[in-house]
Amino acid sequence: ALITLRQLLDHAAENNYALPAFNVNNLEYIQAVMRAADATDSPVILQASRGARSYAGDAFLRHLILGAAEEYPHIPVCLHLDHGDQPSTCISAITNGFTSVMMDGSLEKDGKTVASYEYNVAVTAEVVKIAHAAGVSVEGELGCLGNLETGAGDKEDGHGFEGKLSREELLTDPDQALDFVSKTGVDALAVAIGTSHGAYKFTREPDGEILSIETIAKINKRLPNTHLVMHGSSSVPADLQELFNAYGGKMKKTWGVPVSEIQKAIPLGVRKVNIDTDLRLAFTGEIRKHHIQHPDNFDPRNYLKPAIAHMTEVCKERFEAFHAAGQA
Ligand code: G3H
Ligand code: 13P
Ligand code: NA
Ligand code: ZN
Repeated sequence: ALITLRQLLDHAAENNYALPAFNVNNLEYIQAVMRAADATDSPVILQASRGARSYAGDAFLRHLILGAAEEYPHIPVCLHLDHGDQPSTCISAITNGFTSVMMDGSLEKDGKTVASYEYNVAVTAEVVKIAHAAGVSVEGELGCLGNLETGAGDKEDGHGFEGKLSREELLTDPDQALDFVSKTGVDALAVAIGTSHGAYKFTREPDGEILSIETIAKINKRLPNTHLVMHGSSSVPADLQELFNAYGGKMKKTWGVPVSEIQKAIPLGVRKVNIDTDLRLAFTGEIRKHHIQHPDNFDPRNYLKPAIAHMTEVCKERFEAFHAAGQA
């Protein structure tokens, strides 16, 4: 059986750790996360975006994840909807066996307009009411992800704000966060601190000007008992960029969220750290390498095995770095 996000994050808070939440799209991602969790004895959050649901299909996703729970009965597993764009998306996830949903009301359902605070409160509270009645957890989001240097919004889950955002819009307001959590009753709150989705987060090693861990500290002062979530938190390590580029990939030099910065956020209430890009890079980098090194091969298992193995290594590192290892 699958466990809720609330159960996992309450345990994380009691024991001062955070969980990486990995985006998954197919069998190979799920095997990688589960092998890493098994090797490090860590609890698991598997999250599926709207894109993942349409890529794999809800029935395939549900049964793959139930398969994971059956293969590894000693590991608690949560199936979370990443970036639900409207209540109906969250409801269909609940109907399809998700034990946690994110209602991202930071943008309107057109996916382009920055939502009013009132809209965000209304749609999130509506989802909480329905989800909690079904025993499902809810993550909300307050503030807009995007780059503090350029003011550019990001493209989450196929949507994203096109224009420029102010520093005020790009950093979650701590007083508003307190009001948001009390009005909606969310189990976890995603905050905006200067991260964005994808590989191109920062054009240099981030400092406090462009990655505001200080904002997390302020929010945690107002909301010491709320589980905070960091989105756009791949570290985009140099070795994964090099692997990708070494075998014909074309990726310009970039910086992600350093693991050491995430570690500073854990004592400040961050309990869930979303990671997609790092697994994409490990997966695709290994496949590129295999194809260059073995141009005669046409058995997919021969390139999927090293891809799974490299994703497993990345997952293990994150479980360990966030002190989730040993907590299953
Ligand atoms: O929200 C962003 C996640 O990385 C999911 O990406 O919508 O392409 O599956 P996706
Ligand atoms: P990355 O693109 O940094 O991996 O972020 C993933 C994410 O936030 C999914 O919701
Ligand atoms: Na999420
Ligand atoms: Zn996200």
